[in-house]
Amino acid sequence: MDGPNPRRVLLAAAAAWWAAPVAADEDHPRAGDRLVRDDAAVPLSASDLVAGAGPLLAWARDPDSGRVRQGPRQRLLLIRLDPAAMDEATRSRAAAGVLAYSAACTHGDCVVRDWRPRLQQLHCPCHFSHFDPLRGGAVVSGPAPRALPNLPLREEGGLLVLAGGFSERPGA
Ligand code: FES
Repeated sequence: MDGPNPRRVLLAAAAAWWAAPVAADEDHPRAGDRLVRDDAAVPLSASDLVAGAGPLLAWARDPDSGRVRQGPRQRLLLIRLDPAAMDEATRSRAAAGVLAYSAACTHGDCVVRDWRPRLQQLHCPCHFSHFDPLRGGAVVSGPAPRALPNLPLREEGGLLVLAGGFSERPGA
């Protein structure tokens, strides 16, 4: 009798690993965190982002301890876009048109920071993967194997607040 196909077993294990919830004990961004820039302690609000102007890099900050959750795969990108142009699932995670994604490219961990306004796509400068922030960060082209993980946002007291953590493990 034939045993399980090793390639299928490997693919299934890899898929399960990527889809697994991010471990709660790791210092990943989580619900309730505020968002701050590299150089500022002031929490961000939607009005800090200009619609259609491209991504703003940010970190999550614990609202109780004030500790910024910094690490190679903890960097976030925020982008403000027209909610009417988003698919339904993406719009449900937005706050005032602002979306949050992991900034770590899923191909090789480079920081996804470039914006192609005509295409409305995020661009990784290392090997030219393009991602669609209006469609859940889906890969449009390039070698990236999967979408940028997203994080739901809400507004609280005029500030942007995370409503949850990464949808999947961030980075490559
Ligand atoms: S690291 Fe982004 S495309 Fe290779």
